[in-house]
Amino acid sequence: MRIVLLGTPGAGKGTQCKFIVNKYGLEHLSSGDILRRHRTEGSDLGRQAQSYMDSGALVPDELIVEMMIDEIGGAPKSGYVLDGFPRTLNQAVKLDELLARSREKIDVVMNLKASDDVVIKRITGRRSCPKCGAVYHIDNMKPKVDGICDHDGTVLVQRPDDTAEVVRSRLKNYYEQTAPLVDYYKEKNSFYEFDADGDAGVVKEELFEKLGALV
Ligand code: AP5
Repeated sequence: MRIVLLGTPGAGKGTQCKFIVNKYGLEHLSSGDILRRHRTEGSDLGRQAQSYMDSGALVPDELIVEMMIDEIGGAPKSGYVLDGFPRTLNQAVKLDELLARSREKIDVVMNLKASDDVVIKRITGRRSCPKCGAVYHIDNMKPKVDGICDHDGTVLVQRPDDTAEVVRSRLKNYYEQTAPLVDYYKEKNSFYEFDADGDAGVVKEELFEKLGALV
């Protein structure tokens, strides 16, 4: 199964993707995580992406599309969940063209809708594990020991683009460049929307109910 998970920054895409891939045995392809991996490794792409990411701007399409084509090519036959890609109409068209070459398509698009006030609180309180990528929140998804990853004991960090100022810029870019994908996918694909302001467990159950009816 091939799933696209759309949503505002901080809507909970990464959090929900982890639930979905664990339940359905799919690969989690997060463009943000892949870019951060390139930055940690110090690759050319990582260096080129750095200033865009830190200011909350989108990384240019040509860099992202090439990176994601590589990742999709290496994904298992069981399928994948795309998180953060596509993020512009041009990226969505390139993805469709890639899949059409092997007579494939996106099976379902799920859009997480969260309000700006909620996502600003979520993102500024987010802490992540630089080693395993686990995500926590200082108030509503706390690790067992303050500031330490439950899985590997690593000290949690705050992403450089998780300040209130950069989040506002990410939201602006989302509404200008990514929100149009909702109409694009509504017309072409199985498309479902979810209220993502509520509890992560409730959102998960709603996603699972929909996916359960599709598999
Ligand atoms: P990316 O890493 O994709 O950032 P994003 O889309 O802004 O999404 P986030 O990772 O911030 O949020 P999320 O929805 O995954 O929320 P999460 O589950 O972590 O991209 C970063 C940058 O890379 C971009 O700005 C851009 O520069 C570049 N980039 C990436 N893809 C690109 C592309 N395709 N094209 C161009 N540039 C690209 O949850 C957030 C917090 O809330 C966590 O602390 C979590 O614990 C908590 N939380 C989650 N759900 C709930 C809930 N229901 N209730 C309470 N708390 C919750």
